[in-house]
Amino acid sequence: MENRPQWGTRAGFILAAVGSAVGLGNIWRFPGVAYENGGGAFFIPYLFALLTAGIPLLILEFTIGHKYRGSAPLSYARASKGSEWIGWWQVAISFVISTYYAVIIAWAMAYAYFSISLKWNEGDDTVSFLVGNYLQTGEAGAVGSIVPGVFIPLLIVWAVTLGVLFAGVKKGIELANKIMIPLLVVLFLIIVVRAVTLDGAMDGLNAFFSPNWDLIADPSVWVAAYGQIFFSLSIAFAIMITYASYLPKKSDITNNAFITGFANSSVELLAGFGVFAALGFLAAQNGIAFSELGETYSFTGVILAFAVFPEIINQFPILNEVFGVLFFACLVLAGLSSLISIVETFVAGIQDKFNVSRSKAVLFGGGLSAVISVLFATQGGLNFLDVADEWINQFGIALVGLVEVIFFAWIAKQLTPLQQYANEVSDIKLGLWWKVSLGLLTPVVLGYMMYGKIKQRIVEGYGGYEVDFLFNFGWSVALGAILFGVLFANLKWRNQVDAMVVKKKEVS
Ligand code: ALA
Repeated sequence: MENRPQWGTRAGFILAAVGSAVGLGNIWRFPGVAYENGGGAFFIPYLFALLTAGIPLLILEFTIGHKYRGSAPLSYARASKGSEWIGWWQVAISFVISTYYAVIIAWAMAYAYFSISLKWNEGDDTVSFLVGNYLQTGEAGAVGSIVPGVFIPLLIVWAVTLGVLFAGVKKGIELANKIMIPLLVVLFLIIVVRAVTLDGAMDGLNAFFSPNWDLIADPSVWVAAYGQIFFSLSIAFAIMITYASYLPKKSDITNNAFITGFANSSVELLAGFGVFAALGFLAAQNGIAFSELGETYSFTGVILAFAVFPEIINQFPILNEVFGVLFFACLVLAGLSSLISIVETFVAGIQDKFNVSRSKAVLFGGGLSAVISVLFATQGGLNFLDVADEWINQFGIALVGLVEVIFFAWIAKQLTPLQQYANEVSDIKLGLWWKVSLGLLTPVVLGYMMYGKIKQRIVEGYGGYEVDFLFNFGWSVALGAILFGVLFANLKWRNQVDAMVVKKKEVS
């Protein structure tokens, strides 16, 4: 384990962690989630989830990775007997996410190209261009044929991602983030500044921030806040444990976690400003009130980025094409730096457990994800993606995050030793708030919300899909990830050093 690769610099690690956190979740998901869950009022559950779950969990994961110096499964196995399966469960979740996350980046790549000719105007409107002309979406559940316009950029996405991972931690991941993240920040700032200076921008921002207090008592809103924080901060994905395992011994943990957490939320907030300013402009151009816009368009995920934004780009005063290319290039950059970190979780897991070289692990793990991702590049892709994404977030990430805190706080009772460990190496010392947040607040609040959410999905279903479809692509994917975790935890460690350390732990 002494041969474990290391980040070249502290800045390199922070850029990689921020690169992982800042992703499609910030630009593609956050503005719509915030708007639909109470606008200004959403900031209360959001901040609560960030301060009592997001940042404390990030510190926990950085500490585990730094202390136990392994991929998530290995770190768990070393931390406490019987917990390896949680690490593999997280790896399985990351695996599932990687298969559709890559496809969304491929769409963004295609749309950056479409921006040059404003190609989306070939459809009746931008929604039908997306769903019909571009994705050729069929009936829910039917696979249909591969869509070349998605498949070709998907090949490029995988070539870049796997290429970076082949090159290793320092020469691949660190270098890629050192290039991508500063570039992303510059491009993104240009877009946001331009958006907030458009006509009507203020109406959009008012709508974004005006609070709907009625929603604050709704458990769904709180689950949405936790889900957003977990997804956006890349926690409970196995990512942050893996990345922290490449830190040198002398590294500040808490400070790095605060920098990562606040940098991520700043980008998220900035995205909210940019998106809602642009939506305000769209309403003004159409001579309608902002509230009416919400009746015409959905502001969430796919539709927001790939149908509403093209509409905004159409109506831009000047340089429409340039704005389009910049916006979609931002999505591509943010997405790629996150996808790299998502795939690294199983590359590292395979390397540790099966004692194979990085190249073999990338080829096998990354290759398998690339092959499965083709399913989302078919005519059925959009519907599969919608359901898989909803389930793996709520009943994958948020649920495994809950299990992670319960395990470390209540079962393994490791919060005190981990707190001491983090305090020894960090400038900012962890106080009682950290233990109360992880040991009490997060399990109680998230546990209660999770119960409500599971009940709601069982009773109400989702998005008007058939029960069978939800079972096949939602429930079985989420449950399959748990099963995979248990199965892999029962396989033998092929790496003798790891096996010995794990064994010693089990005996003691
Ligand atoms: N943290 C990544 C995102 O926000 C996964 O998209």
